[in-house]
Amino acid sequence: MTFETQVVQAAPEAHATPLLILLVPQGAIPASLAKLDAASGGAIARCYAAGDFGGKKDEAALLYPEGPRPRLLLVGVGAPADRRAAVRRGAAVGAKRARTIGVPSAALFVTPEARDAVPAREVGQAVAEGAAEGAWNFLELKRPPEERKPALQRIELLAPSETEAVREGHRIGAAVAAGHALCRGLQVLPGNYCPPRRIADEAVELGKRHGIPVTVLDRAGIEQEGMGALLAVAQGSVEEPRFIVLEYRGAGGPPVLLIGKGVSFDSGGISIKPAQSMEDMKYDMSGAAAVLGTFEMLGRLAPKLHVVGMVPSAENMPSGSAIRPGDVVKSHLGKTIEIVNTDAEGRLLLADALSYARRFAPACAVDIATLTGAITIGLGHSATGVMGTDPALIQELLAAGERADERVWELPLWDDYRELNKSDIADVKNSGGRPAGSISAGWFLREFVDGFPWAHLDIAGTAYTERDDPAMVKGPTGVGVRLFSEFLLGRA
Ligand code: BES
Ligand code: MN
Ligand code: ZN
Repeated sequence: MTFETQVVQAAPEAHATPLLILLVPQGAIPASLAKLDAASGGAIARCYAAGDFGGKKDEAALLYPEGPRPRLLLVGVGAPADRRAAVRRGAAVGAKRARTIGVPSAALFVTPEARDAVPAREVGQAVAEGAAEGAWNFLELKRPPEERKPALQRIELLAPSETEAVREGHRIGAAVAAGHALCRGLQVLPGNYCPPRRIADEAVELGKRHGIPVTVLDRAGIEQEGMGALLAVAQGSVEEPRFIVLEYRGAGGPPVLLIGKGVSFDSGGISIKPAQSMEDMKYDMSGAAAVLGTFEMLGRLAPKLHVVGMVPSAENMPSGSAIRPGDVVKSHLGKTIEIVNTDAEGRLLLADALSYARRFAPACAVDIATLTGAITIGLGHSATGVMGTDPALIQELLAAGERADERVWELPLWDDYRELNKSDIADVKNSGGRPAGSISAGWFLREFVDGFPWAHLDIAGTAYTERDDPAMVKGPTGVGVRLFSEFLLGRA
């Protein structure tokens, strides 16, 4: 599916389009729509007068003015504290409706009343991001329907004034949106379509598109490196593991390191998961997808940054060759690990990546992983958990999350929790049991961090949704791409 947004210098009443989307705030009809309403025979005023629409968040009304005027779609953004996020969401709601209506293109106008004090540049970025989010869907594995509606290919953002500033923001937003879409497109792929070698191929392709060097280690290369923890996860599967490294060099100096968990399917292994919702474990490579999506953004925007991405990838399966509970393996760092639960596999492959990271002498490292079901018990689906060794880095991620509208919440990584992972026979064990499950997972990772500031993002609750939303279809959310984009571009 090809979808794009573009900025057009035109007033809403003077632009030809099959569908005109209008973002409006909660309350009475915005004064800025007077001209358009006159040109549309008073259709907007009649809708408000009938009490059918009041601009509440996610509220939408589709109008058919008389004569040659285009359909109108009023979309409410409510009266939120964060107008920037509201504009992004409004654009998503509008784009999702446009897609289901079945128009090939639409125009979108953010009324000054809806935008309030958001600078023009940020409007351009937020609309580019939101429209792409709402327009996204995945039909590639379905037979095409007999009566096919046209696919939504384009949304034109109308910017009659401050057009250049809107364009500048739009350039950033479009790059972030492309990364976000790439991320979701990988997340959604089933385990049989997207084993570790496919994740590696996608990384290589991405690298070719943007001139970003990509290195891929296969099983032999991983063995040579001594990544015993990654190998342990992979040994039960017929799919070979991969260790993928991308290096984007837009500047010198020590790199920022991003590490994404790439478990292409997590059955749990011998400590097998219950059948209920096990199909969702195709999403266990969402961290990897977020890292690749972020590199797509970097490739398109070419900011002055040095960023290294690492994706340890394996499939976690039970078989005669699988690791057993109780097995002890030697990690890349040299510490031995007692594997008491083969379903705590993500931390194993991340441990080897964190150890490998030392050779880059990074300015900091951030890992992103669908790591624990426990994070959903604590935070639900509304926030990504963060923990780490560096308060300033954590603050940066919290702030980036606010700006991206991908909320992040900190959990304490106090020394008290370290002993949860104490093993009787090895240096550390891979599960600390149920209490503080997300934190003991964080502490396990910390055992393999040596010499750089580090933070860990647990996206098990935010990587995918089980419910359709006005702004987004159910399924992959692309979480992490906007967060990392704000985080990185804030450093450029
Ligand atoms: N991939 C899962 C975590 C997960 C659970 C992601 C639900 C998304 C939704 C992870 O590998 C896992 O299985 N974690 C275990 C850890 C436990 C065995 C210590 C868990 O959360 O139960
Ligand atoms: Mn698992
Ligand atoms: Zn997992």
